Amino acid sequence: MTTKTALITGVSRPIGIGFAVAQQLAEQGYHVILTARDLARVDTLAAQLRRDGLAATALRLDLTSPATMAAVAEYLSWSFGHLDVLVNNASDVVDFTVLSALDADIDAVRSAIDVDVLGPWQLVQTLLPLLKAAPAARIVNVSSNSALQISAGLDLGASLRAPAHSFGKHALNVVTEMLAHALVDTPILVNAVDPGSTATHPERGDDEHDRPAADSARGVVWAATLPADGPTGGFFLDGRPLP
Ligand SMILES: NC(=O)c1ccc[n+]([C@@H]2O[C@H](COP(=O)([O-])OP(=O)(O)OC[C@H]3O[C@@H](n4cnc5c(N)ncnc54)[C@H](OP(=O)(O)O)[C@@H]3O)[C@@H](O)[C@H]2O)c1
Repeated sequence: MTTKTALITGVSRPIGIGFAVAQQLAEQGYHVILTARDLARVDTLAAQLRRDGLAATALRLDLTSPATMAAVAEYLSWSFGHLDVLVNNASDVVDFTVLSALDADIDAVRSAIDVDVLGPWQLVQTLLPLLKAAPAARIVNVSSNSALQISAGLDLGASLRAPAHSFGKHALNVVTEMLAHALVDTPILVNAVDPGSTATHPERGDDEHDRPAADSARGVVWAATLPADGPTGGFFLDGRPLP
């Protein structure tokens, strides 16, 4: 039987959404490939899944480094020959103290574009032969409701902060639509998911009302395991479409 495979980016912290997604996909029988820029950290997390009897591999992947993307593609090609699920979960650091586009640090905007937009886009291009080699691959871009303040003009209160992050996530949603359109004649489905407000950064002291990563991961896993007649090019929270 062919092994189902899923690669998740930005898996460096045990309480992060990426690790919860990896855990849930592994529990569904996927061999999960956990990736992060720091190999030691992602190695520890993959070992934790293996101790629980799950199939997990750790690889180094930096979304600003095409060389690491190529190395990951080569590893997957030799080891599995295909990729069933790609979850673009990694995201650049968010500065919630910036309250207006007028005050945005343009270097921070550039960095958000590199990590949140161009990185996932180039990763899809690099892994496309492997995604096409799977029977019906799924691509999930982990976005944010911060994108909605731009695309839908919604007043999202606290999310109105961090213009670099909001711009990056809005652009990621646009890339999601473009990729879905480009792949419409294939079985590959591409969607963006807002995981919802999640308690992944207690050091910031502002997430006491947020939900645990395992709850947010379910909506990502839903998009990663859509049936053949599932949507493509959409933006979802907990399986429900967002504007
Ligand atoms: N938590 C929330 O309330 C919330 C709400 C909406 C959306 N989201 C989205 O959910 C996703 C996961 O967020 P999280 O809350 O779980 O936070 P997180 O653990 O901090 O996740 C971000 C990950 O991205 C990685 N990363 C940063 N730059 C990278 C690069 N150049 N190459 C590869 N990886 C890189 C980080 O790695 P390092 O440790 O090496 O920096 C980290 O592992 C993100 O896309 C985030 O925008 C979260």
